[in-house]
Amino acid sequence: MAAPAPPAPTPALMKLAKETYDVTCAACHGATGEGNGPVAFAVKPPPRNFVKDEFKAGDGVEQIFKTVTSGLPNTKMVGYAALDEQQRWALAYYVRAFRPKR
Ligand code: HEC
Repeated sequence: MAAPAPPAPTPALMKLAKETYDVTCAACHGATGEGNGPVAFAVKPPPRNFVKDEFKAGDGVEQIFKTVTSGLPNTKMVGYAALDEQQRWALAYYVRAFRPKR
């Protein structure tokens, strides 16, 4: 199956991204993406610090979409296929925006 194409990162999509991230991801990855959310201390291996760490699977929008959909094996990073596709694309942009500009 071909990978679905990313929607444009409109203001509405980015608003959805923040709402979804704060509810679903920030407990581990932290509101600022630094891997320091309130439950992060209990998670081994620790949640990715999106600002500082290398991305194991790659940090392109399409790759992050896949990681968010399928998760990473043998870690607490589970797949979020239950979120709708729009939300997963939104999160991919949102996570990517924590990366330092290169
Ligand atoms: C229960 C804690 C937890 C939650 C909640 C969580 N993650 Fe993660 N996440 C992790 C851990 C742990 C890793 C690192 C796994 C590893 O080291 O391989 C990770 C890794 C990632 C990566 C991988 C970067 C790479 O190295 O390729 C992305 C992207 C990511 N998370 C996005 C998200 C998004 C988006 C959400 C919300 C939908 C989310 N995570 C929710 C624990 C969590």
